[in-house]
Amino acid sequence: MTGALHLARPEILALAPYAHAEWDPALVRLHANENPWRSEADRSRDGLNRYPEPQSSALIQRLACLYGVEPDRVLVGRGSDEGIDLLVRTFCAAGRDRVVVCPPTFAMYRFAADVQGAAVSEVPLDAARGFDLDVTALKAACDPTVKLVFLCSPNNPTGNRFPDDAVREVLDALAGRAIVVVDEAYVEFAEGPSLVDWLAAYPHLVILRTLSKAYGLAGARCGAVLAAADVIGLLRRVIPPYALSVQSIESVLDALHPDRLEAVRARVAAIRAERTRMLEGLARIPLVEQVWPSQANFLLVSSRDAGRLLQAGIRGGLLVRDVRRQPALERCLRITIGSPEQNDRLLESLGAA
Ligand SMILES: Cc1ncc(COP(=O)(O)O)c(C=O)c1O
Repeated sequence: MTGALHLARPEILALAPYAHAEWDPALVRLHANENPWRSEADRSRDGLNRYPEPQSSALIQRLACLYGVEPDRVLVGRGSDEGIDLLVRTFCAAGRDRVVVCPPTFAMYRFAADVQGAAVSEVPLDAARGFDLDVTALKAACDPTVKLVFLCSPNNPTGNRFPDDAVREVLDALAGRAIVVVDEAYVEFAEGPSLVDWLAAYPHLVILRTLSKAYGLAGARCGAVLAAADVIGLLRRVIPPYALSVQSIESVLDALHPDRLEAVRARVAAIRAERTRMLEGLARIPLVEQVWPSQANFLLVSSRDAGRLLQAGIRGGLLVRDVRRQPALERCLRITIGSPEQNDRLLESLGAA
């Protein structure tokens, strides 16, 4: 066992893997109770009449290459949302174990814990220091019942990335004691590289990546968990065998063809440039008090009348996210960077408020 596997629920460690129908494309499939004929509406390559290959090897290979890890360090699922849910179900027993979250942050960590019946400890980010991690409080919160610590970096909805030193201090303190999940959903929009190279040094580090943001594939529902091979092996036992549809697998493989990656990079660059323009444009709007710098594809904005800004956006036909219910964000909205035309329209609508 590595420094992480012993943290899993004993029931999951003892779980007999589900025996899905064998996968051998060379043989005629009369073993999975599928239909031999394709629907006339079926435009897929492999056929929707057939179950997909569990953890599609082509997709795993492609993601491993994209993220720069070995294929046995990759689990593919329905968005990183599924990764979060799997991690909580695999490592936290209901009524016994605990996760740590750092609000204001992505709400799905708490949601998954609540569904599982795991307790949640909150270690708020330090608003006065640009929503930085409170590493001392975080370490103090990690008693032996804590199995997972979720760090969202860049953080949704504040947009900041945690300094490497802070994440390293958390990892060093929790070695052998808890899994540290670094959610890098927005890392492609950030200044520095992913922490993926740290996986070799930290068997209790888990990284979440998604194709929903920089790659423009939110509708395909595809995300990856990157971790030590034995952690991935355990998660593969828990994930349903046919998590991703044939259509998702095929459309993601098409979108990730090496010839298409230049276009992805160009769009990320365009979003980053628009982010700078929007930061300046929003700061000039009279109702706006503060716009926080962002390493993601959105901006956090505070206003003395956020409700009025929200309504002004709706009058212009544009929705922005009301985050006022989150701690420390009582006056805030989160604004996704759109196309230049959409951004112009938003600036105009909010300016008229
Ligand atoms: C921080 C963060 N993690 C994960 C997700 C979920 O992404 P996916 O579409 O891969 O499920 C989101 C979606 O907004 C997010 O903001």
